Amino acid sequence: MNQYAITDIKAREIIDNRGMPTIRVHICAGHEHWGRADVPCGSSTGSYEAVEIRDGESRYRGKGVRKAIQNIHEVIAPKLAGADVTRQQEIDGLMIDLDGAADKSKLGANAILGVSLAVSRAAAKVCRLPLYRYLNKDGRVLPVPQACLINGGMHAGNDLDIQEFCLMPTGAKTFAEAVQILCETFMNLKDILHKKIGKVATNSSEDGGFAPPISSSRQAMDYLCEAVERSGYSDRVVYGLDFAATGFYRSASHAYDFEGSEKTRDDMIQFVTQLIDEYPAIVSVEDPLDENDFEGMQILTANLKNTLIIGDDMFATNIKRIQQGVARKAANAILCKLNQIGTLTEAAAAVSFARQEQYAVVMSERSGETEDDILSDISVAFNAGLFKTGGIRGSDRGSNYNRFMEIEEELGQSAVYAGNSYREIIEGPKLLRPRGPA
Ligand code: PGA
Ligand code: ZN
Repeated sequence: MNQYAITDIKAREIIDNRGMPTIRVHICAGHEHWGRADVPCGSSTGSYEAVEIRDGESRYRGKGVRKAIQNIHEVIAPKLAGADVTRQQEIDGLMIDLDGAADKSKLGANAILGVSLAVSRAAAKVCRLPLYRYLNKDGRVLPVPQACLINGGMHAGNDLDIQEFCLMPTGAKTFAEAVQILCETFMNLKDILHKKIGKVATNSSEDGGFAPPISSSRQAMDYLCEAVERSGYSDRVVYGLDFAATGFYRSASHAYDFEGSEKTRDDMIQFVTQLIDEYPAIVSVEDPLDENDFEGMQILTANLKNTLIIGDDMFATNIKRIQQGVARKAANAILCKLNQIGTLTEAAAAVSFARQEQYAVVMSERSGETEDDILSDISVAFNAGLFKTGGIRGSDRGSNYNRFMEIEEELGQSAVYAGNSYREIIEGPKLLRPRGPA
């Protein structure tokens, strides 16, 4: 028996960190090597994302994934039987064709991504390599974690409009040290919020950060800065904000429902510019405007040359959307979320294209995650300079920090912590290499 041949595909319904059903896929190569992967799911999703299929029946309030699982067992599995598990690109291409819809709405991006990821894990097993090494023998970059310590927007039950207030320990020497900085600051922030607001302020958001009952972005920044100062890390961290502005943009009135009043695009641009002026350690701003406002993003990008302007909902890890951004000089970084596009191959292509156009790359989890840590391996394989993994609390978040630390140790001397060079492009992913170990 060919050890690379797919001999079994099994999918099952599991739950994610929010108690929402998602898909776990197991793939076996050569009757021996199993690869397993779970599918993430967002809550502040953009309109240009690939479509996940949900059952729409009464169980799990319509969120069941049995239909998508049926598509894996009845449509995808028969076509992949016997396929060479190391032919990632071919397998992904086959599923894309099998679906036929640009947004993967026929079989479901959740079904397709689960298979795509489990294929890569099975292949790494056959090759007896850790996944990051199997995907790219030159993968060695440990990203700067962009961890959201305070949440608002759709991720929190408070009145903060900005979705994520993140800490980026660029001044750490290693990834492990970055984690220590994050956790110590998180602990101090808890004390500060408790003392100043009360114990209700120490409750968690959906994303693993705090969700204090406040409504002002400046207040959130002040608490965060105070926690950093108390931890003694003021000279080693910078900040990143995810506005997730599509969530508070009202297309009917062409206005942003932000911080107590209706704001125009110009108001938002002014707000962002002023905030960065007041807090110069804010180095990264994600989705500060609606997902369709390429022109506004172009203005911001031109105005704030030293700031990372990240397109998340705007680009949706989709090459066609990134091409539009490049043509209009909108943003200077992409967020790469695997389930926005639905296959590992397309995610790698989006990352390669973005880099070719000098856009920085931020790998990102979704708010809906499981204990699966696959994204850490993929991030190292892509040599991404930044990684957004939500907050600190919960093994859905910790699993990736822990996996990165494991990889860092495994890489030893060849590990490179991105640190202050997080915008630099080290090299494109050499994903999808032909069969066989390095
Ligand atoms: P989501 O949010 O995973 O809930 O969509 C994350 C983000 O907007 O970056
Ligand atoms: Zn975002």
